[in-house]
Amino acid sequence: MRVAIGVAGGIAAYKAAELVRVLQERELDVQVVMTRAAREFVTPLTFAALSGHKVITEMFGGPGAEPNLESAIEHIAVAQAIDALVIAPATANVLAKIAHGEADDFLTTLCLATKAPIVLAPAMNINMWENSATQENLKTLRERGFRIVEPGEGHLACGMTGPGRLAEVEDIARAIFDVLELKNDLAGETVLVTAGPTEEPLDAVRFLSNRSSGRMGYALAKASRDRGARVILVSGPAAIEPPAGVTLERVGTAEEMARAVFHHLDASTIVLMAAAVADFRPAEVRSQKIKKQTVARSLELVPTIDILAEVSRRRRGQLLVGFAAETENLMENARAKLEAKGLDLVVANDLTEAGAGFGSETNIVTLVFPGGRAEKLEKMDKLDAARRILDEVVRMKKLPSPAMSTSWARGESR
Ligand code: CTP
Repeated sequence: MRVAIGVAGGIAAYKAAELVRVLQERELDVQVVMTRAAREFVTPLTFAALSGHKVITEMFGGPGAEPNLESAIEHIAVAQAIDALVIAPATANVLAKIAHGEADDFLTTLCLATKAPIVLAPAMNINMWENSATQENLKTLRERGFRIVEPGEGHLACGMTGPGRLAEVEDIARAIFDVLELKNDLAGETVLVTAGPTEEPLDAVRFLSNRSSGRMGYALAKASRDRGARVILVSGPAAIEPPAGVTLERVGTAEEMARAVFHHLDASTIVLMAAAVADFRPAEVRSQKIKKQTVARSLELVPTIDILAEVSRRRRGQLLVGFAAETENLMENARAKLEAKGLDLVVANDLTEAGAGFGSETNIVTLVFPGGRAEKLEKMDKLDAARRILDEVVRMKKLPSPAMSTSWARGESR
């Protein structure tokens, strides 16, 4: 989706840089448009570097530029291409011009020419804000369907205290997500996701691992981010691109994964454990490459730490989702895992089904709930499966956790 950010001439113009970053974290394509006055405060180069697009500053390519048809109709092209327009900061002057349908520069012309929803985040001196001209303009704009993100109160650059400060960037972003109809129902949550395989070294060059690609976990991280969550992705070795805007921690062994997970556990509110953690590791790790003449016929293995079980013991109110990849007795095993580890949800998949499990772009999952209820979803893209899992997470977040309440009722401590 494409969003144009209009920057007008106010002290708060620099804060639009942060807005560019927040929108890009949700993979929105951002085009910045600056008024002439805005360029007195911040240079277009700053926004060009951040957004990755040339900043639009003038109609007709600017003073001295050779007028051409492309620049003469650029405002129409941008007006049609965008899904939303936000002006932050919107000065009293810009509000007045828009309220009266004036179009004397690129930004105000764009406002007239676009049918996309427009969000206005005013920022100005308190007297200018309280002036009845400004207030009447705002009333007109509200009635016309413009979305106004009210300024905050506080110390203003002019030395006065009161309303007029640009709203918080998160609040402006929320208004944009809202007009774009992007889900934001995980805002305020911190989602900890484990993904990929682990590698358990045997000697200097060999390891034990499995065929997990990390795709399911990465899809969960992306889908959580898209719904407004802060995301920490703890990933074993995976050859896929991590989604932008998530905190990525790369780990190798189960032990390293456990350490990273425990480190982030207290700060998390939702834990999704999609990693295919090795259950065993070689009892001894040789620092040199083992020579074939010296190798034993059997390999001694010791169990790795069960991270999910340990998280279940340590958690304080976090919603906990486990995964069960099985090749036989899917439902029986999934239900046993849910019970044994006190989980809020188990996502089970049958590795023998075509289009499910390791390496596949799609998955066929069955959601298993406390109490034994199960729901099999049809074959779908892993990102769609992730979205469905999060729908359940959001629904359960609104209810008291069944796993938690039963353990409390039993008087167990976590
Ligand atoms: N898991 C974990 N730590 C481990 C092993 C598994 O956190 N050492 C997590 C996985 O991320 C997944 C779930 O536990 O969410 C899988 O449950 P588990 O019972 O360990 O499944 P398997 O490893 O397949 O074990 P089993 O052989 O008992 O089926």
